[in-house]
Amino acid sequence: MNDILEIIKSRRSIRNYKNEKIKDEEILKIVEAGRWAPSASNNQPWRFIIVQNKELIKKIGDACKILTINSFVEKAPLIFIIYTEKKHRWVELDCGICAENMMLEAHSIGIGSCFVGAFKENRIKEIINLPEDLNVVGLITFGYKENEKEPTLRLDLKDIVKYDFYTKDKTKIISNKNIKSGFLSIISIFFKKR
Ligand SMILES: Cc1cc2nc3c(=O)[nH]c(=O)nc-3n(C[C@H](O)[C@H](O)[C@H](O)COP(=O)(O)O)c2cc1C
Repeated sequence: MNDILEIIKSRRSIRNYKNEKIKDEEILKIVEAGRWAPSASNNQPWRFIIVQNKELIKKIGDACKILTINSFVEKAPLIFIIYTEKKHRWVELDCGICAENMMLEAHSIGIGSCFVGAFKENRIKEIINLPEDLNVVGLITFGYKENEKEPTLRLDLKDIVKYDFYTKDKTKIISNKNIKSGFLSIISIFFKKR
């Protein structure tokens, strides 16, 4: 896969993984994509704990079960815990951009991922020995995809874009034949996969 827009549009949150270890060189490629993310004043506030130990992953999974959907976490073969020592205004945004870089790189090399934002932070800190004063920003689970996933819905351009000034009216979007409305874009991604 080469076209960045295609990579962005075909990434999905993948929650079913094969029970297969991710190769070390692939893990490093994912970290590399995170390392090159932009950040406020090039502060690079992200730090990662890379977890593959099954016992630890089970415990981390339990700490994420505050949402029922998160029962998949304990079955992931690989988890990145994104933490930070910094406390400035842009930390979470920087780490979010870094996380997306890593999920896109993973997707481009055939690895599924899911960002996990619901977890008991104190429990995660206990499990991985993270000092009290550091913060866990989020987790990303990774694994080879068990199956492909259908596209999720996105808002239409007219619902999210305005030109020059705010108005209450919906925007008439400058025509671009490469950008389809929400429904059409889903159909086209669906058929491209076949
Ligand atoms: C900040 C953030 C927190 C999220 N937390 C969770 C989570 O705790 N559990 C989960 O299963 N998915 C979580 N997700 C994944 C979203 O549910 C998913 O990105 C969204 O439904 C869109 O689907 P897609 O990623 O397949 O396009 C999170 C995503 C983000 C960006």
